[in-house]
Amino acid sequence: MNSHRSGHPIVVLAGGLSHERDVSLRSGRRTAEALRSAGLDVAERDVDSGLLAALLADPPTCVVPMLHGESGEDGAIREVLDLLRVPYVGSGPAACRTAFDKPVAKSVVARVGITTPLGVCLPHETFRELGAAQVMDAVIARLGLPIVVKPARSGSALGCTLVESAADLPDAMVNAFAYGSVALIETYVAGTEVSVPVVDDGSGPRALPAVAIKPDGPIYDYTARYTAGSTEFTVPAGLPADVLAECARVAVAAHEALGLRDLSRSDLIVRDDGTVCFLEVNVAPGFTETSLVPLSVEAAGLDLGDVLASLVRAASARDARTTTP
Ligand SMILES: Nc1ncnc2c1ncn2[C@@H]1O[C@H](COP(=O)(O)OP(=O)(O)OP(=O)(O)O)[C@@H](O)[C@H]1O
Ligand SMILES: [Mg+2]
Repeated sequence: MNSHRSGHPIVVLAGGLSHERDVSLRSGRRTAEALRSAGLDVAERDVDSGLLAALLADPPTCVVPMLHGESGEDGAIREVLDLLRVPYVGSGPAACRTAFDKPVAKSVVARVGITTPLGVCLPHETFRELGAAQVMDAVIARLGLPIVVKPARSGSALGCTLVESAADLPDAMVNAFAYGSVALIETYVAGTEVSVPVVDDGSGPRALPAVAIKPDGPIYDYTARYTAGSTEFTVPAGLPADVLAECARVAVAAHEALGLRDLSRSDLIVRDDGTVCFLEVNVAPGFTETSLVPLSVEAAGLDLGDVLASLVRAASARDARTTTP
C-alpha cells in the first residue's frame, strides 16, 4: 500500500561522499530543475546521516538517485531504498553491482556477443606477490602498446591513463590503484568514441541518439569531461546509418544483458572499419551542463523534464505494484 505516499515530493539524491560528489551535485541540480519544469514537486537532498530519518518521516513518491561513483553506482544506496520500500528511478542493486564492475560487466556483455577490448584485470596484491616489473612485462608482452589503465570500479575517468610507452606503466598503475584495489588494463581502441543513452519508461528499452565525443587529447579524461569547451560533441554522431544502428543495438543489448532498468548510458568506440567495441555502461549517467544524456535527449527532440518525469511515473507505478504491505 503506497497511498500514504501520494502528495509527497520527488526527492533527487545528489552529493554523497564519492570522488564524484561535485559532479553529482551538478547533475542533481539540473535534474531537479528539469523535473520542476515538467510540473513536479521536487526536493533535493544530500546523502548523509539524516537521510533515512527524512525518508521515513516523509516518504517520497519516488527517489531519483543522481549519485555517481562508488556508493551511487555500486547499488549500495539502492539496496537501502529497497529496504525502505521507497520507489526509485534506475537499476536495482544486483544489476548495479554487475554493471559498475567493469571487468564483470565486460564478461557479461561478451557472453551475448558484444565485442569489448582485450584486457586483463589485476588486483594490487598480484603485483606485490609476483613482482611488479615481471607482471607489467607480461601485460605488455600480451597486450602490446598503447594500453589504457583504469580502476575496475570508478567513474568520470578518474585514475584512467593512456600508456604509450612501457616506462609510463608504473605511474599509470599507481594512478589506478589510488581509486581502488583492482585495475583493468585494456588495449587502446582507436576510433570514434560514442556514448548511447538507453531509456525505458515502460514500453521497453530504446536507444537515444549516439553522441560522438572528440576530446582535445587521445582520451576523454576528467578535465575534458568537466571543462566546458575542451571537447567537441556531435549529436547525432556523424557516422553511417548502419553503424549508428549497430551502436543502438549494442547499447540496448548491453542494457538487457546486464539486467538494467529505466536508464543507462553505454560508452562505445567505433573502429574505423565500423565495428563497435563496448567500453562500459553507466547506471547513473551524468546530467550536468556538459553531460551526454541531456545532449542526446535534446537531439531526439525530447524535453529533459518530460523524459525524467516519464521515468519517475514508470518507477512509481512499478514499485507500487511490487511492494507488499
Ligand atoms: N580500451 C580503451 N581504448 C580507448 N580509449 C579508452 C579505453 N578505455 C577507456 N578509454 C578512454 O578513457 C575514458 C574513460 O574510460 P571509461 O569510460 O572506461 O571510464 P569511466 O571512468 O568509467 O568513465 P565514465 O565517467 O564514463 O563512467 C573513455 O571515455 C575513453 O576516452
Ligand atoms: Mg565511460
